Amino acid sequence: MPLSRLVTAAVATSCLALLPLVTASPAGASGGPAAPDRPLRQLAADDHLRVGTAVDMSALADDSVYRRLTGSEFSAVTPENVMKWESVEPRQGEYDYAAADHLVDFARRHGQQVRGHVLVWHSQLPPWLTSGDFGADQLRAILHRHITDTVRHFRGRVWQWDVVNEAFNEDGTLRDSIWLRALGPGYIEDAFRWAHEADPHALLFYNDYNTEWTGPKSDAVYDLVSRLRAEGVPIDGVGFQGHLSIRYDLPTGMAANFARFDRLGLDTAVTEADVRMAVPADDAKSATQAEGYRRLLDACLRTPHCVSFTVWGFTDRYSWVPGTFPGEGAANLFDEDYRPKPAYRALESELAGRARPRSAH
Ligand code: XIL
Repeated sequence: MPLSRLVTAAVATSCLALLPLVTASPAGASGGPAAPDRPLRQLAADDHLRVGTAVDMSALADDSVYRRLTGSEFSAVTPENVMKWESVEPRQGEYDYAAADHLVDFARRHGQQVRGHVLVWHSQLPPWLTSGDFGADQLRAILHRHITDTVRHFRGRVWQWDVVNEAFNEDGTLRDSIWLRALGPGYIEDAFRWAHEADPHALLFYNDYNTEWTGPKSDAVYDLVSRLRAEGVPIDGVGFQGHLSIRYDLPTGMAANFARFDRLGLDTAVTEADVRMAVPADDAKSATQAEGYRRLLDACLRTPHCVSFTVWGFTDRYSWVPGTFPGEGAANLFDEDYRPKPAYRALESELAGRARPRSAH
């Protein structure tokens, strides 16, 4: 490039830098100043990574800023609630996939992949199921049917499924749940086999929290997925939810933990990242939060087959945290007015500063 153009470009860039953030805002009318020159999804594409968010369907319908940022910043979406059993089969035998279909259509229009969440979990089950007094054979048939019907419905449209979610306790024993009690530990491999039959091309994940670092729980997940791989059960990946709180020391050793799953030939993913704090937020807490996000992303980028990094919502305006962890909040990348926080900038610079090669199993 001739020197004159270089100078012009440099002047233009520095002028841009002087403009108030709000002029370049994707948040627009709300006055929210987010203004990323290159959205996260573009930066992540250079690193062969999908960057995703959980999506709140009411916000997507009612809030145009939310809708715009969902489409522009992310290359993958996860339904925060609308693919869960209580949503898709509120009454036995009556499926309602409308809200989930709506998100899948949104994703297609925006060039996004979909993480299906979730097939087998102990939580957010419909009341007809939890209070139905079913015997073991009936529950097995009910689970088989739920997995088959749901995965078939979205066949070819869901990239990754969280097939089994949160099956372990902190000490590495299997969690007491309706599934373990009635069906024994074999429900896990059955679920993967049934999901694979229903859509042989979807990537099938085991997903859990507090498994990002090494410890009894992640060791138990490691033992489980090693055995499943050895026995030829169709499992493709392990999801690390990534729900952190700055009230604890930020985790270390996450990349080494992800690496051992990678060596099994599995994909990995950060599936639900957020970093909460005691509210109100302040600069010091926001800096620690940014470091928490950075470490999660760094662990993923260091792992050759870490295929996606998903945040559990992107704005403090809509977050599950305050309702679930009293006194905590401010856990997301953008504040309630869609201003990008240091956490957003940390992901931005982490993605921009890497050149991760493409990698395939
Ligand atoms: C949460 C949603 O964010 C809330 O809106 C809902 O009320 C409860 O579930 N781990 C998971 C997610 O796998 O499905 C949970 O989502 C958060 C913890």
